Amino acid sequence: MKNKIAIITGITGQDGSYLAELLLKKNYIVHGIRRRSSSINTSRIDHLHDNKKILGKKFFLHYGDLLDSISLEKIINKILPDEIYNLAAQSHVKISFDMPEYTSNVNALGTLRILEIIKNLSNKKRIKFYQASTSELFGDSVHKKKDENTPFFPKSPYATSKLFSYWITKNYRESYNLYCVNGILFNHESPRRGLNFVTRKITYILTRISNGLENKLEIGNLNAKRDWGHAKEYSEMMWKMLQLKKPEDFVIATEKQFSVRNFIELTCKEIGFQIKWKGKNLDEYGYVSRIFDENLKIKINQKIVVINKRFFRPNDVEDLLGKSIKARKKLNWKPKYNIKKLIKDMVKEDKLLAEYEVLKKKANK
Ligand code: NAP
Ligand code: GDD
Repeated sequence: MKNKIAIITGITGQDGSYLAELLLKKNYIVHGIRRRSSSINTSRIDHLHDNKKILGKKFFLHYGDLLDSISLEKIINKILPDEIYNLAAQSHVKISFDMPEYTSNVNALGTLRILEIIKNLSNKKRIKFYQASTSELFGDSVHKKKDENTPFFPKSPYATSKLFSYWITKNYRESYNLYCVNGILFNHESPRRGLNFVTRKITYILTRISNGLENKLEIGNLNAKRDWGHAKEYSEMMWKMLQLKKPEDFVIATEKQFSVRNFIELTCKEIGFQIKWKGKNLDEYGYVSRIFDENLKIKINQKIVVINKRFFRPNDVEDLLGKSIKARKKLNWKPKYNIKKLIKDMVKEDKLLAEYEVLKKKANK
């Protein structure tokens, strides 16, 4: 049977790297679009790229940018893929307040640029298109559990740019009979998560503190609640959405909710100590109250979590919880990772990084 061909935008990101691994396992030929960067941005996919013996004819990287139609058109026209996964984005909500125009150009117009190319190719090939939509679309919605029918209420330039992409994807599906779907994914994390997203920041810095490499974790809104899953599983759902006969949009969520504060407490427990909280609002802090592992480089009463105003947003989404009954039925979705398993996976990798740095420091002395 002929290998299927996929293009992944955002291949150097967290989700792109997991999706590339999955598609290669399924015998796809994978083409990734990477943008030009002055420093190396392929660390999440180097293991695929280097493995030339096995993947030499199956894995390709191309320079391109969602801001640059010419590069996108050239790549898509040449490859004529079966599937395109549009994962590229300025994906940081707080940064979108600092760069609203750039965020909209990449996240909103970038999607339109790809859809136009697909539309113009539709007499040559029916290319299936996946759009990385997001639970941020729900924003301030009053409904507690959000599903495919919950009204959107975006609260940031990021969410608003993704709202455009959500609708333009739906419009192109309905207007031109294209196979285009929105995966409305709730937060998903992993050891490959960027360091400036809250979960990875927590596991990375707390493992460094417990190895004596840092003193404090500075954090913003402790009370924000999220529905956190594992990125590896969520990437598989993207693929599943494109294997259905009819294009449809899906919510993917674990249906369990935890606060940033809970995430910190569970991470501390996984590392081997207990944290307690004192104070209020900006003066609140977390200190070590019990230590279960005597090898940890921390002390009882040590103040390890402090609040820093810098990490608050002009407008935050406080409460996100999903309902993914449709995906459970039609995609056979059932999360294998709960919050404890997710944290265990992240702490394990970050512990190794911290221990490696301790060894390096010792060797350099
Ligand atoms: P990520 O780690 O931030 O990856 C974003 C990717 O987009 C990176 O490969 C980045 O390249 C690339 N990119 C950024 N601007 C680009 C441009 N102008 N042209 C081409 N590529 C560009 O994000 P992620 O967590 O994997 O998320 C993947 C997608 O799902 C994003 O669209 C995100 O908004 C959406 N989403 C994520 C979640 C989540 O919880 N993770 C939930 C819902 C939706 P560099 O490596 O060069 O920066
Ligand atoms: N990043 C960050 N850093 N967030 C913090 C911090 C901090 O120091 N302290 C508290 N938070 C709170 C944020 O205010 C937010 O309420 C919550 O932690 C989660 O923040 P992020 O991890 O940055 O994720 P996000 O929910 O804003 O956005 C992520 O998930 C979306 C899906 O709902 C991103 O991956 C988006 O691209 C994605 O669409």
